[in-house]
Amino acid sequence: MQSLDLSATEVVKQVAGSVKKKRKVHRGGPSNKLVKSAYVGGNQDIFPDIMRLYVKPGSIVADVTYGKGVFWRNIPSDQYQLLPTDIRTGTDCRLLPYERESMDCVVLDPPYMHSPGGSTHAGQTAFEEHYRNNGSGNQTGVKYHDAVVSLYVEAGAEAHRVLRNRGVLIVKCQDEVCSNRQRFTHVEIMEAYNNLGFIAEDLFVVVRTNNPGVSRMVKQVHARKNHSYFLVFWKHMNGNRIWQAHQ
Ligand SMILES: C[S@@+](CC[C@H](N)C(=O)[O-])C[C@H]1O[C@@H](n2cnc3c(N)ncnc32)[C@H](O)[C@@H]1O
Repeated sequence: MQSLDLSATEVVKQVAGSVKKKRKVHRGGPSNKLVKSAYVGGNQDIFPDIMRLYVKPGSIVADVTYGKGVFWRNIPSDQYQLLPTDIRTGTDCRLLPYERESMDCVVLDPPYMHSPGGSTHAGQTAFEEHYRNNGSGNQTGVKYHDAVVSLYVEAGAEAHRVLRNRGVLIVKCQDEVCSNRQRFTHVEIMEAYNNLGFIAEDLFVVVRTNNPGVSRMVKQVHARKNHSYFLVFWKHMNGNRIWQAHQ
């Protein structure tokens, strides 16, 4: 039989517990309009949902590899205070012209395949034109896959400088096979960004709609990648390590 001799501390704990329980309020109703973690489509279809979930309207957003602005095609221009820059227009994502801790969000989508050299992408002008793998040179002092990751890491450090505490970094990337070695770029980025002081909060998978092919197939060794990622990080300087949705 349970003893009725409760200590004063236990009584306080039990009362506090019952008060807490009574305060529990159930808000909201059922919905299927959820932002999902995997999409079949283009970046312009998915990116608005990620922004909606993680970045408050009116926020200052630096897209530091703006390119052709595909990400922004389905976002009304008055939704955010967008600052678009790119190496093509003279701004290196590793040396941004912004004050420290001045941004609410940084968007980063550098070239995510190594420049194979030779003729792999020769003639694929649309590919090179869009990704600028050779054009940017990834001036990092290292080669191939390491050059890809190096640019992500250096740009991540610069994003960390310009982001405010709890500011959001959205990164687009894709894994790659380089010299027959599987390189999980998204994992390497997560590890490096953790060391920079970011918390990895979410991961979105984008599955392309067209069928990837090769010009000369000998023997397939690895799965041909038809997916890429959006990774969401936030800068943690101090305070709670739990992410809070914006109101
Ligand atoms: C995959 S594309 C980005 C596409 C873009 N997100 C869009 O929606 O069109 C990569 C972009 O990174 C840019 N880039 C490459 N190296 C860079 C660097 N060091 N600093 C800034 N931009 C760079 C390229 O010029 C190119 O526009």
